[in-house]
Amino acid sequence: MTTPTPLLRLDGITKRFPGVLANDSVDFDVQAGEIHALLGENGAGKSTLMKILYGLYNQDEGQVFLAGEPADITRPSDAIQAGLAMIHQHFMLVPTLSVAENVALGLADSGFLVDTSSVADRISELSTQYGLAVDPESNVWQLAVGERQRVEIIKALYRDCRLLILDEPTAVLTPQEVEELFVILRKMADDSRGLIFISHKLDEVLALADRITVLRDGRVVGETKPEATSKEELARMMVGRPVQLTPDKKPSQHGRVRLAIEGLQVEGDRGRRAVNSFSIDVRGGEIVGIAGVSGNGQRELAEALAGLRPVTGGRILLDDTEVTGSTPREVRGAGLAYVPEERMRDGVIGEFTVAENLILVDHNAEPYCRRGVLHMRNVAERAVTLVERFNVKTPTIDTITRSLSGGNIQKLILARELSAEPTVLVASQPTRGVDIGAAEYIHRRLVEERDRGTAILVISEDLDEVLTLADQVAVMFEGRLMAVRDRAAVRVEEIGLLMAGSGA
Ligand SMILES: Nc1ncnc2c1ncn2[C@@H]1O[C@H](COP(=O)(O)OP(=O)(O)OP(=O)(O)O)[C@@H](O)[C@H]1O
Ligand SMILES: [Mg+2]
Repeated sequence: MTTPTPLLRLDGITKRFPGVLANDSVDFDVQAGEIHALLGENGAGKSTLMKILYGLYNQDEGQVFLAGEPADITRPSDAIQAGLAMIHQHFMLVPTLSVAENVALGLADSGFLVDTSSVADRISELSTQYGLAVDPESNVWQLAVGERQRVEIIKALYRDCRLLILDEPTAVLTPQEVEELFVILRKMADDSRGLIFISHKLDEVLALADRITVLRDGRVVGETKPEATSKEELARMMVGRPVQLTPDKKPSQHGRVRLAIEGLQVEGDRGRRAVNSFSIDVRGGEIVGIAGVSGNGQRELAEALAGLRPVTGGRILLDDTEVTGSTPREVRGAGLAYVPEERMRDGVIGEFTVAENLILVDHNAEPYCRRGVLHMRNVAERAVTLVERFNVKTPTIDTITRSLSGGNIQKLILARELSAEPTVLVASQPTRGVDIGAAEYIHRRLVEERDRGTAILVISEDLDEVLTLADQVAVMFEGRLMAVRDRAAVRVEEIGLLMAGSGA
């Protein structure tokens, strides 16, 4: 029996960046009808390989073959022409345009003026066929992340792509949305398309993939199938050592209330009330985890706590000092550190160097700044220490932050926020997009921070993460607090029901 010619074959792909060998003679292939998962730590070279395939980067060495023929893909338009589509790690839709306009954007045969009503008709057809619920008329900025992603998929289907690349498509989805997405992806594969799926969630990879390839430091270190492997083995292949999947955690030694939220009201972007009479206390030395399906006010709550979003009612107290309505700088001065969900927007300045981002928040304090002058040696020393301690993968501390891989940017923000020795830490989605080794490290650091006496509020759509970290589990639904349970007394089914708005 001969194996059929693969839809895609990468042969010896090598890509260098200054100081980094991002891809090192990578061989990889995808058959029609197959979902091939690509795994690897943050910075292993997954996105780089996919960007080469999609024409966003050009390889230094190696050849791409499509259906057995050498293909020269030097620009994304070449890739689109050849039937490739890519769903990026960071969304690429234009927020101010409608769904239909976004789908039509860049279509080769659409000419200058696009007939969006015929596009809308086709979108409706595709949504019915694949079970993708999206309204073609809505503006993209109004959509939740899960909906935005469905738009990206519709865009790919609209162009009848043969090969779909998904770079961490599930990082921002709820468990429910992930299930729906998997059904759609399997349908696409059954239509003889090829799919490349990148994810840090090993359960998902084992559930979805037909084949799994692992990259480490730019090289392929192994290829396997879900039925022939396990989470532990995949983790070991990725990291190169055994990984402890849940941290050691002693019972909490909690003290007095350090963060008090009283009857908080916050408005969302669409002008409706996002946080509604929300009250909770977080004591020093404990982790309170807020579970909930995305879009139930978690983002607005976190932003209000950080001083980034106006409060329309209620109070926030840090160590008995009221900080309601304070600026982000004042809140930080009062002892609150913040790990934002939207890290490229709220967490770092992409054009700044790693060192600059590491001191971003205390850049006008000693010892980094005296009389308005930055002390570069102190900045550099601290940056080197933090990069080492938090294992941020970067060629140098003077590298532009935007060029780091997604997970490494998250580690950079955590390094900065935890090293501020806060009294209260608010962390939104602390390990989203982070690899399994780094997630282990971040969880361990959060528990250490708790044991130092910090009051920690973790907001996460990943229920497993909440259950791993929290001493108290709270559930948020439609802006309201549904319940708080002691971790030891948690029944997972009950939490699930509360997350869906029932059971209280
Ligand atoms: N445009 C660029 N300029 C310089 N270096 C880059 C650039 N793009 C990627 N790199 C580097 O190449 C390496 C691989 O990065 P890549 O984004 O491919 O990792 P990844 O496997 O996708 O990681 P993650 O899981 O964090 O998304 C990293 O060291 C990264 O810093
Ligand atoms: Mg990536």
